[in-house]
Amino acid sequence: MNERLSQALNECPSSLANALLPYLNSDTFHASFSATEVIALQQSSGLSSTELALALLPLAASYAFAPLSDFKVGAIAHGASGRWYLGANMEFITTPLQQTVHAEQSAINHAWISGETRLNQMTVNYTPCGHCRQFMNELNCAEQLLIQLPDTPPRTLPFYLPHAFGPKDLGITHALFDPQIHAMTMHHDPLINAALSAASQSYAPYTHAYSAVALLLDTGQRVTGRYAENAAFNPSLPPLQSALIILRLQGYDPSSITRAVFVEIAGAAISQKSATLATLSALGCHDIETLTFTTNG
Ligand code: THU
Ligand code: ZN
Repeated sequence: MNERLSQALNECPSSLANALLPYLNSDTFHASFSATEVIALQQSSGLSSTELALALLPLAASYAFAPLSDFKVGAIAHGASGRWYLGANMEFITTPLQQTVHAEQSAINHAWISGETRLNQMTVNYTPCGHCRQFMNELNCAEQLLIQLPDTPPRTLPFYLPHAFGPKDLGITHALFDPQIHAMTMHHDPLINAALSAASQSYAPYTHAYSAVALLLDTGQRVTGRYAENAAFNPSLPPLQSALIILRLQGYDPSSITRAVFVEIAGAAISQKSATLATLSALGCHDIETLTFTTNG
């Protein structure tokens, strides 16, 4: 187990720390717990579901990468499948603050990329900021989503975001986490193909500027991220951030990226290209290919 995880265990109640130990092998633990594992953890720790989620927040926050603020935020997205997805904030030195990832976005993106089609609840160690409330309002479950904070009764998102502005105001009824398939041609290069496949599932109902990033790591592993747009535009999650979240939650560091592919649809009114290239090069990745594609559906 790496040092970050073992430090997080010290912050957990001891009954939970003992129950968690078998799960935290660095090679196999990918920052989520299946429904069966959640039940097993509850049984062995004696904690209720809510107590367990709150007790796991230090583990989620241990994934934070916050060289600017040193403020560690941890979140858990509770998928409809019963799986719990950890997430944490990420900051990038030398890039604009707009490139920051919030813990809530991290956990939500983790669940989305993992194939969840709906969330039931978010558990967070601090009250979500306005940007995150707006980001969560893009979810297909926004009206019912429960927010659980320490020492606070659970409340739905509409309690935290009254008089909300959202997808429906712009005529969008298929929201974030609803299936998105923008059919496109395959490519013989597996990394490019992974990027195209991710782009085909990206969520861009306002601009149709579908885009994605695929990263090749020095272990040979591939990580992909896809664009998640927001009705209020600014809280949109760029495709590179989506990939970097997964990279971090799988226990890797940006220095392990050996090659990056960025794809976006040809002829769109907006482009993620220059921001993606700038942030990748700030992270020390210079082997970057950019491609455009057309949908075939
Ligand atoms: N942060 C979150 O992750 N979630 C919130 O809703 C509050 C703020 C992060 C963003 C940044 O990395 C740091 O906390 C300081 O704002
Ligand atoms: Zn936030």
